[in-house]
Amino acid sequence: MPSLKYYFKKARKEGFAIGQFNVSNLETLRAVILAAQNLKSPVIIGTSERESQFLGMRQAVSLVKTFRKETGLPIFLNLDHGRSFRYIKKAIDLGYDTCHFDGSKLKLRENIKITKKAVKYARKRDILIEGEVGFVSGSSTLFTKIPKLNKEDFTDPLKAKNFIRQTQVDRLAVNVGTLHGMSSSGRNPRVNLKLLKAIKKAVGNFLLVLHGGSGVSEKDIREAIKLGVVKVNVNTELRVAYSNTLRKVLRGNPKEMVPYKYMPKVIKAIEKVVERKIKLFKSNNKI
Ligand code: G3H
Ligand code: ZN
Repeated sequence: MPSLKYYFKKARKEGFAIGQFNVSNLETLRAVILAAQNLKSPVIIGTSERESQFLGMRQAVSLVKTFRKETGLPIFLNLDHGRSFRYIKKAIDLGYDTCHFDGSKLKLRENIKITKKAVKYARKRDILIEGEVGFVSGSSTLFTKIPKLNKEDFTDPLKAKNFIRQTQVDRLAVNVGTLHGMSSSGRNPRVNLKLLKAIKKAVGNFLLVLHGGSGVSEKDIREAIKLGVVKVNVNTELRVAYSNTLRKVLRGNPKEMVPYKYMPKVIKAIEKVVERKIKLFKSNNKI
Protein backbone atom coordinates (compact mmCIF):
# COMPACT_ATOMS: atom_id res chain seq x y z
CA MET A 1 0.00 0.00 0.00
CA PRO A 2 1.33 3.49 -0.83
CA SER A 3 2.75 5.41 2.15
CA LEU A 4 1.36 8.47 3.91
CA LYS A 5 4.12 10.47 2.21
CA TYR A 6 2.72 9.35 -1.14
CA TYR A 7 -0.78 10.53 -0.18
CA PHE A 8 0.48 13.94 0.99
CA LYS A 9 2.30 14.42 -2.30
CA LYS A 10 -0.84 13.40 -4.16
CA ALA A 11 -2.92 15.81 -2.05
CA ARG A 12 -0.61 18.71 -2.85
CA LYS A 13 -0.55 17.87 -6.53
CA GLU A 14 -4.28 17.31 -6.91
CA GLY A 15 -5.49 20.00 -4.48
CA PHE A 16 -7.22 18.05 -1.74
CA ALA A 17 -6.64 17.59 2.00
CA ILE A 18 -6.56 14.43 4.08
CA GLY A 19 -8.82 14.55 7.12
CA GLN A 20 -7.43 13.70 10.50
CA PHE A 21 -10.28 12.46 12.65
CA ASN A 22 -9.63 12.12 16.36
CA VAL A 23 -10.90 9.07 18.20
CA SER A 24 -10.77 7.67 21.71
CA ASN A 25 -12.91 4.59 21.37
CA LEU A 26 -13.80 1.80 18.96
CA GLU A 27 -17.21 3.17 17.98
CA THR A 28 -15.77 6.47 16.73
CA LEU A 29 -12.95 4.67 14.96
CA ARG A 30 -15.44 2.35 13.26
CA ALA A 31 -17.50 5.33 12.09
CA VAL A 32 -14.45 6.99 10.52
CA ILE A 33 -13.46 3.78 8.75
CA LEU A 34 -16.99 3.26 7.42
CA ALA A 35 -17.06 6.79 6.00
CA ALA A 36 -13.62 6.35 4.41
CA GLN A 37 -14.73 3.04 2.93
CA ASN A 38 -17.97 4.47 1.53
CA LEU A 39 -16.14 7.37 -0.13
CA LYS A 40 -12.87 5.62 -1.02
CA SER A 41 -10.79 8.14 0.88
CA PRO A 42 -7.45 8.02 2.65
CA VAL A 43 -7.83 9.02 6.32
CA ILE A 44 -5.64 9.76 9.29
CA ILE A 45 -6.77 8.60 12.70
CA GLY A 46 -5.63 11.01 15.40
CA THR A 47 -5.21 10.35 19.10
CA SER A 48 -4.07 13.12 21.43
CA GLU A 49 -2.02 12.10 24.46
CA ARG A 50 -5.16 11.79 26.59
CA GLU A 51 -7.14 10.03 23.88
CA SER A 52 -4.27 7.58 23.40
CA GLN A 53 -4.15 6.95 27.14
CA PHE A 54 -7.89 6.23 27.24
CA LEU A 55 -7.92 3.96 24.19
CA GLY A 56 -4.47 2.49 24.85
CA MET A 57 -1.56 3.19 22.50
CA ARG A 58 -0.96 -0.47 21.69
CA GLN A 59 -4.69 -0.94 21.17
CA ALA A 60 -4.86 2.07 18.82
CA VAL A 61 -1.97 0.68 16.76
CA SER A 62 -3.51 -2.83 16.56
CA LEU A 63 -6.98 -1.53 15.73
CA VAL A 64 -5.74 0.68 12.90
CA LYS A 65 -3.57 -2.15 11.54
CA THR A 66 -6.50 -4.56 11.67
CA PHE A 67 -8.87 -2.17 9.89
CA ARG A 68 -6.19 -1.41 7.29
CA LYS A 69 -5.73 -5.10 6.59
CA GLU A 70 -9.44 -5.85 6.53
CA THR A 71 -10.48 -2.95 4.29
CA GLY A 72 -7.33 -2.41 2.22
CA LEU A 73 -7.78 1.32 2.85
CA PRO A 74 -4.92 3.78 3.37
CA ILE A 75 -5.60 4.45 7.08
CA PHE A 76 -2.76 6.03 9.07
CA LEU A 77 -2.35 6.64 12.79
CA ASN A 78 -1.07 9.99 14.07
CA LEU A 79 -0.12 10.94 17.60
CA ASP A 80 -1.77 14.36 17.89
CA HIS A 81 -0.31 17.14 20.09
CA GLY A 82 2.51 15.04 21.55
CA ARG A 83 4.06 17.38 24.09
CA SER A 84 7.41 15.71 24.80
CA PHE A 85 10.10 13.80 22.95
CA ARG A 86 9.47 10.91 25.36
CA TYR A 87 5.83 10.55 24.29
CA ILE A 88 6.70 10.86 20.60
CA LYS A 89 9.39 8.16 20.96
CA LYS A 90 6.92 5.89 22.74
CA ALA A 91 4.35 6.32 19.95
CA ILE A 92 6.95 5.61 17.26
CA ASP A 93 8.28 2.57 19.11
CA LEU A 94 4.76 1.19 19.48
CA GLY A 95 3.96 1.55 15.78
CA TYR A 96 2.31 4.94 15.10
CA ASP A 97 2.74 5.99 11.45
CA THR A 98 3.29 9.67 12.17
CA CYS A 99 3.48 12.09 15.12
CA HIS A 100 2.72 15.72 15.76
CA PHE A 101 5.16 17.37 18.14
CA ASP A 102 3.40 20.32 19.69
CA GLY A 103 6.02 22.65 21.05
CA SER A 104 3.80 25.67 20.52
CA LYS A 105 3.81 26.60 24.19
CA LEU A 106 7.60 26.50 24.35
CA LYS A 107 10.09 29.19 23.45
CA LEU A 108 10.80 28.92 19.71
CA ARG A 109 14.39 27.83 20.33
CA GLU A 110 13.26 24.97 22.59
CA ASN A 111 10.50 24.03 20.12
CA ILE A 112 13.11 23.79 17.35
CA LYS A 113 15.46 21.73 19.53
CA ILE A 114 12.89 19.06 20.42
CA THR A 115 11.32 18.98 16.94
CA LYS A 116 14.78 18.37 15.49
CA LYS A 117 15.35 15.50 17.92
CA ALA A 118 11.97 13.98 17.03
CA VAL A 119 12.69 14.31 13.29
CA LYS A 120 16.07 12.61 13.71
CA TYR A 121 14.54 9.70 15.60
CA ALA A 122 11.56 9.40 13.24
CA ARG A 123 13.47 9.69 9.97
CA LYS A 124 15.56 6.57 10.66
CA ARG A 125 12.33 4.65 11.07
CA ASP A 126 10.51 6.18 8.11
CA ILE A 127 7.99 7.98 10.31
CA LEU A 128 6.70 11.49 9.50
CA ILE A 129 6.79 14.38 11.97
CA GLU A 130 4.44 17.37 12.08
CA GLY A 131 5.79 20.48 13.78
CA GLU A 132 3.95 23.58 14.95
CA VAL A 133 4.71 27.27 14.95
CA GLY A 134 2.08 29.54 16.47
CA PHE A 135 -0.41 28.44 19.09
CA VAL A 136 -3.94 27.14 18.42
CA SER A 137 -5.88 27.77 21.62
CA GLY A 138 -8.97 26.12 23.11
CA SER A 139 -9.94 22.50 23.71
CA SER A 140 -12.08 20.17 21.63
CA THR A 141 -15.51 20.76 23.08
CA LEU A 142 -18.43 23.21 22.67
CA PHE A 143 -18.14 26.75 23.96
CA THR A 144 -20.79 29.45 24.28
CA LYS A 145 -18.45 32.44 24.22
CA ILE A 146 -15.82 32.55 21.49
CA PRO A 147 -12.36 32.73 23.12
CA LYS A 148 -10.32 35.81 22.35
CA LEU A 149 -7.75 35.21 19.61
CA ASN A 150 -4.33 36.59 20.55
CA LYS A 151 -2.42 38.10 17.66
CA GLU A 152 0.90 36.92 19.13
CA ASP A 153 -0.32 33.31 18.88
CA PHE A 154 -0.68 33.58 15.09
CA THR A 155 2.03 31.98 12.94
CA ASP A 156 4.70 34.35 11.77
CA PRO A 157 5.58 33.48 8.12
CA LEU A 158 9.31 34.09 8.54
CA LYS A 159 9.50 32.10 11.76
CA ALA A 160 7.66 29.26 9.98
CA LYS A 161 10.17 29.35 7.14
CA ASN A 162 13.16 29.24 9.50
CA PHE A 163 11.55 26.51 11.61
CA ILE A 164 11.16 24.30 8.55
CA ARG A 165 14.73 24.92 7.42
CA GLN A 166 16.21 24.24 10.83
CA THR A 167 14.15 21.21 11.85
CA GLN A 168 13.65 19.51 8.46
CA VAL A 169 10.17 18.61 9.67
CA ASP A 170 7.76 16.91 7.24
CA ARG A 171 4.74 19.19 7.61
CA LEU A 172 3.76 22.27 9.59
CA ALA A 173 0.71 23.09 11.72
CA VAL A 174 -0.06 26.80 11.59
CA ASN A 175 -2.33 29.13 13.48
CA VAL A 176 -4.29 31.26 11.05
CA GLY A 177 -7.23 32.02 13.32
CA THR A 178 -8.74 28.61 13.98
CA LEU A 179 -9.48 27.34 17.47
CA HIS A 180 -9.79 23.98 19.14
CA GLY A 181 -13.49 23.52 19.88
CA MET A 182 -16.64 24.87 18.35
CA SER A 183 -19.08 27.63 19.15
CA SER A 184 -22.45 26.21 20.16
CA SER A 185 -23.87 28.32 17.33
CA GLY A 186 -21.90 25.98 15.03
CA ARG A 187 -19.89 28.79 13.47
CA ASN A 188 -16.33 29.72 14.48
CA PRO A 189 -14.43 32.90 13.56
CA ARG A 190 -13.26 33.32 9.96
CA VAL A 191 -9.86 31.94 8.95
CA ASN A 192 -7.22 34.60 8.33
CA LEU A 193 -6.66 33.71 4.67
CA LYS A 194 -4.41 36.72 4.15
CA LEU A 195 -2.01 35.36 6.74
CA LEU A 196 -2.22 31.87 5.23
CA LYS A 197 -1.33 33.38 1.86
CA ALA A 198 1.70 35.12 3.41
CA ILE A 199 2.80 31.83 5.02
CA LYS A 200 2.44 30.05 1.70
CA LYS A 201 4.52 32.74 0.04
CA ALA A 202 7.25 32.26 2.65
CA VAL A 203 7.32 28.45 2.69
CA GLY A 204 6.49 27.69 -0.96
CA ASN A 205 5.04 24.25 -1.57
CA PHE A 206 5.59 22.99 1.96
CA LEU A 207 2.84 20.80 3.47
CA LEU A 208 0.59 22.81 5.80
CA VAL A 209 -1.83 21.56 8.44
CA LEU A 210 -4.96 23.23 9.78
CA HIS A 211 -5.90 22.39 13.37
CA GLY A 212 -9.28 23.22 14.85
CA GLY A 213 -11.25 22.08 11.80
CA SER A 214 -14.62 21.96 13.60
CA GLY A 215 -17.01 24.83 13.03
CA VAL A 216 -14.89 26.43 10.29
CA SER A 217 -16.96 27.64 7.34
CA GLU A 218 -16.86 25.42 4.26
CA LYS A 219 -15.79 28.38 2.16
CA ASP A 220 -12.73 29.02 4.36
CA ILE A 221 -11.78 25.33 4.30
CA ARG A 222 -11.93 25.28 0.48
CA GLU A 223 -9.78 28.42 0.27
CA ALA A 224 -7.29 27.05 2.81
CA ILE A 225 -6.87 23.88 0.74
CA LYS A 226 -6.23 26.01 -2.34
CA LEU A 227 -3.50 27.78 -0.33
CA GLY A 228 -1.55 24.63 0.50
CA VAL A 229 -3.33 22.97 3.43
CA VAL A 230 -3.07 19.19 2.92
CA LYS A 231 -4.33 18.00 6.31
CA VAL A 232 -7.30 19.23 8.33
CA ASN A 233 -7.86 18.04 11.91
CA VAL A 234 -11.40 17.46 13.15
CA ASN A 235 -12.38 16.39 16.63
CA THR A 236 -15.16 18.43 18.29
CA GLU A 237 -17.79 17.80 15.61
CA LEU A 238 -17.29 14.04 16.06
CA ARG A 239 -17.51 14.33 19.85
CA VAL A 240 -20.71 16.38 19.58
CA ALA A 241 -22.30 13.88 17.18
CA TYR A 242 -21.35 11.03 19.52
CA SER A 243 -22.51 12.58 22.78
CA ASN A 244 -25.70 14.24 21.55
CA THR A 245 -26.87 11.15 19.64
CA LEU A 246 -26.14 8.87 22.57
CA ARG A 247 -28.07 11.16 24.94
CA LYS A 248 -31.01 11.30 22.54
CA VAL A 249 -31.12 7.55 21.89
CA LEU A 250 -30.98 6.64 25.58
CA ARG A 251 -33.57 9.26 26.48
CA GLY A 252 -35.90 7.80 23.86
CA ASN A 253 -35.31 4.22 25.07
CA PRO A 254 -34.82 4.45 28.84
CA LYS A 255 -35.17 0.67 29.25
CA GLU A 256 -32.66 -0.28 26.56
CA MET A 257 -29.52 -1.81 28.13
CA VAL A 258 -27.83 -3.45 25.15
CA PRO A 259 -24.96 -1.41 23.67
CA TYR A 260 -25.00 -3.17 20.30
CA LYS A 261 -28.64 -2.15 19.95
CA TYR A 262 -28.29 1.55 20.74
CA MET A 263 -24.75 2.28 19.51
CA PRO A 264 -25.37 1.85 15.74
CA LYS A 265 -27.28 5.17 15.68
CA VAL A 266 -24.33 6.88 17.35
CA ILE A 267 -21.92 5.38 14.83
CA LYS A 268 -24.18 6.47 11.96
CA ALA A 269 -24.26 10.07 13.23
CA ILE A 270 -20.45 10.26 13.36
CA GLU A 271 -20.14 8.54 9.99
CA LYS A 272 -22.30 11.25 8.43
CA VAL A 273 -20.13 14.03 9.87
CA VAL A 274 -16.97 12.35 8.57
CA GLU A 275 -18.50 11.81 5.12
CA ARG A 276 -19.41 15.50 4.91
CA LYS A 277 -15.83 16.46 5.81
CA ILE A 278 -14.28 14.01 3.34
CA LYS A 279 -16.36 15.51 0.53
CA LEU A 280 -15.46 19.03 1.64
CA PHE A 281 -11.75 18.15 1.72
CA LYS A 282 -12.17 16.49 -1.71
CA SER A 283 -10.31 13.36 -0.61
CA ASN A 284 -13.07 11.05 -1.87
CA ASN A 285 -12.08 8.70 -4.69
CA LYS A 286 -8.38 9.40 -4.06
CA ILE A 287 -7.26 5.90 -3.15
O1 G3H B 1 -5.76 18.32 16.85
C1 G3H B 1 -7.00 18.23 16.74
C2 G3H B 1 -7.77 19.25 16.05
O2 G3H B 1 -7.07 20.41 15.96
C3 G3H B 1 -9.21 19.28 16.41
O3 G3H B 1 -9.82 20.55 16.50
O4 G3H B 1 -11.74 19.91 17.92
O5 G3H B 1 -11.67 22.08 16.77
O6 G3H B 1 -11.99 20.01 15.46
P1 G3H B 1 -11.39 20.64 16.66
ZN1 ZN C 1 -5.10 20.38 17.23
